[in-house]
Amino acid sequence: MKLTGKRLVLGVTGSIAAYKAVGLVRTLLREGADVSVVMTQAAGRFVTPLTFETLSKHPVATDLFAAQQDMPHLTLPERADAVIVAPATANLLAKCALGLADDLFSTMLLNVTCPLIVAPAMDGGMWHHQAVQAHVATLRARGVTVLDPEEGPLASGRIGPGRLAEESRIMDALEQALAPRQDWAGQRLLVSAGPTQEAIDPVRYLSNRSSGKMGYAVAQAARERGAAVSLVSGPTTLTAPPGVDLIHVITAEEMQKVLLARLPWSTVVVMAAAVADFRPLRPSSAKLKKDGGYWKKLDLAPTDDILHQLSQQRRDQVLVGFAAETESVLAHATAKLKRKGLDLIVGNNVAAEGSGFGSDTNAATLIDRNGQVRELGLLPKRELADHILDVVLTLIRPRRKPGPSKGGT
Ligand code: CTP
Repeated sequence: MKLTGKRLVLGVTGSIAAYKAVGLVRTLLREGADVSVVMTQAAGRFVTPLTFETLSKHPVATDLFAAQQDMPHLTLPERADAVIVAPATANLLAKCALGLADDLFSTMLLNVTCPLIVAPAMDGGMWHHQAVQAHVATLRARGVTVLDPEEGPLASGRIGPGRLAEESRIMDALEQALAPRQDWAGQRLLVSAGPTQEAIDPVRYLSNRSSGKMGYAVAQAARERGAAVSLVSGPTTLTAPPGVDLIHVITAEEMQKVLLARLPWSTVVVMAAAVADFRPLRPSSAKLKKDGGYWKKLDLAPTDDILHQLSQQRRDQVLVGFAAETESVLAHATAKLKRKGLDLIVGNNVAAEGSGFGSDTNAATLIDRNGQVRELGLLPKRELADHILDVVLTLIRPRRKPGPSKGGT
């Protein structure tokens, strides 16, 4: 089941090939997809909405103004992983290319941000018309996958191009569109996440509010995009993303050891952990008693700045740091980028609504070593992770050639 968990919208427009969309829905369902069908008025002349409703187990949206449906022109594409138009008429191609929005489906198409696959079907003469070909070219230039129709006997009795693409071609195009990018293949990412805990005594520690979600999101995104990933995590409640090598640590010192040992392996290091800046100078081996009084003093020693050490020991690795701030994010983050010798810093205001520790979203400012600043609005941490990875790819240096061989054969 190649499409398990995928939400698809299938747009059916008014061509005789509309009956083939019924078979396509069954194939998509068999592969595990959740399919919602949208039909144009003309498509309803060839196949009834009831056919698709019965198969897909979802209401079929046909009317922009139907009161009982909750704005399907917005909600359907927002939730979709891909939209397929099969069959697509010459009229639909024209409306899509020109951005016309005079019915539900064409209006919906203006809200599609996921992959769009269009499979035209029409008589050969229409397919070859300059207007149709110009619209196809416009759509392709915009990143839409338009599947050329196939040659063969047409409904008109003629023979020529115009038949709806075979189901297997539509399925292949869909798989291709849904396949995750593999632009991190060949990279080895070392990423830290979560807080560290610094013991005061066997039952108490100093720590911070980091949940680890940002570092785990970076690890997952890079893995899905083809990287080998080592995730060095302080204590969190999160589970490791599939395929990621997870190393648990507790203290800043343990995190430091693991990261420095793995630095030579890596090509990119993302330091998303909230490392404790101080640790108790003399942790007690026995539980400290309160003895009814105040605790007047807890001597603290600074921890080493791991990122700074990584920056001093690295060869070609791209180094990414985070700057958790509560004010003047750009100024503080820029200063940290320089002080720690980083390639990129992700500054965020941890005091802002919806941002920072524990939250599933984050509004970040990305500052790179060339001084380029990218302000990103409030995003799910997973989407922010993808933005960070996109920028890191632009900062990767060409690998140094290995040094001269020290003898041997
Ligand atoms: N960091 C680190 N080692 C430390 C402290 C922080 O490697 N001992 C890293 C963090 O993982 C983060 C970056 O340095 O990527 C910035 O951390 P932050 O806490 O924002 O800054 P600090 O350097 O600790 O400065 P300050 O606390 O004064 O803001």
